[in-house]
Amino acid sequence: MVYAIGLISGTSLDGCDAALIAIEGEKVRQLHFVTLPMEEGLRQRVLDCCSPERSSIDLACSLNVELGRWFAAAALELCRRAGISPEEVEVIGSHGQTVYHIPEDEGGRLASTLQLGEPAVIAYETGARVVSGFRAMDMAAGGRGAPLVPFAEYLLYRSDRHRALQNIGGIGNVTVLPAGCGMDGVFAFDTGPGNMIINALTKHFFGLEYDEDGRIAARGRADEELLREWMALPFVQKAPPKATGRELYGQQFVNGALRSRPDLSPQDFIATATRYTAACIEYSYRAFVFPRCPVREVILSGGGAHNLTLRRDIAALLPECEVLTQEDLGFSSDAKEAVAFALLAHETVAGRPSNLPGATGASKPVILGNVTPAPLRA
Ligand SMILES: Nc1ncnc2c1ncn2[C@@H]1O[C@H](COP(=O)(O)OP(=O)(O)O)[C@@H](O)[C@H]1O
Ligand SMILES: [Mg+2]
Repeated sequence: MVYAIGLISGTSLDGCDAALIAIEGEKVRQLHFVTLPMEEGLRQRVLDCCSPERSSIDLACSLNVELGRWFAAAALELCRRAGISPEEVEVIGSHGQTVYHIPEDEGGRLASTLQLGEPAVIAYETGARVVSGFRAMDMAAGGRGAPLVPFAEYLLYRSDRHRALQNIGGIGNVTVLPAGCGMDGVFAFDTGPGNMIINALTKHFFGLEYDEDGRIAARGRADEELLREWMALPFVQKAPPKATGRELYGQQFVNGALRSRPDLSPQDFIATATRYTAACIEYSYRAFVFPRCPVREVILSGGGAHNLTLRRDIAALLPECEVLTQEDLGFSSDAKEAVAFALLAHETVAGRPSNLPGATGASKPVILGNVTPAPLRA
């Protein structure tokens, strides 16, 4: 039996999720989970760093170390609560904080991805071996570098039913596990926004980080015209594999919408953004999932699984599906991605590939990540 830790801060910039798992052969147990909240100053520096207009190379340089310390602090807090020493873990898998992602060559820029959170700092502060930079090798092999969680989902959730695992973080993404599938039967892609537009709007109108339990959206009405306009975006219509992020659905997107529709009330705006996340999911399933796999079970995860209006919208748009949450299966909606990166790191140190070409579009399975040795262990 070995322990592994997974660390990730997603596009929502809400906090660092840290999960401790125990791996014994094929058996994986989630032992502990913590989220270290991201304080406002750090969030602002990350947002600045993500923005081509506001970013600077000295900010990126410094933030890389700052985030490394923050990830290390999350791992140490996790170990403290679990009552183990970080040196006992086989490996820490650190996804890092994505600050930029160019999925394909475009406008003179090469397909590339940048996650910050210096692994040397994490390894030094914890005394543990670290695997980081998971996405780069998949991209070197012609993949989009995302999504990577499907490998872990395949290990943990494959069953005798056709399942769709719908994660709703900043961005929405789905992994389809056809009944009894092998690893090459799994496919996955980003469905569109998750909470990103909703969060930006609640911040703009109410100074709130998010629409708790979807209460604001529940009081508004989705605007059909704006929905039609958003549904027509090339990203939505494009066939998978595909990945998106703050580059498309970030502040610029929201500013444009606010300018174009000053007539919409805050409630209606937030209801529209909520419905849009659900409608992108529905469209993705009808256009790209159902023709390949007649999924009738949808399992939600990520923070968006707590948004009851969003859940209601998804269930209403997909009446043929049973819509469940991770909790219904006895797992945690919040820990899934951190657990996945712990597993991915374990695969890397075992010398096994863990990208799924069906999910990322890579030309072949490859061993992911950069290994930073535990600094003081011989
Ligand atoms: N109770 C809740 N009600 C509505 N939305 C929630 C709730 N809890 C979390 N969220 C949403 O989930 C987001 C965080 O989701 P997470 O899965 O951590 O995303 P990421 O992977 O992008 O960090 C928050 O920013 C918020 O929008
Ligand atoms: Mg998060």
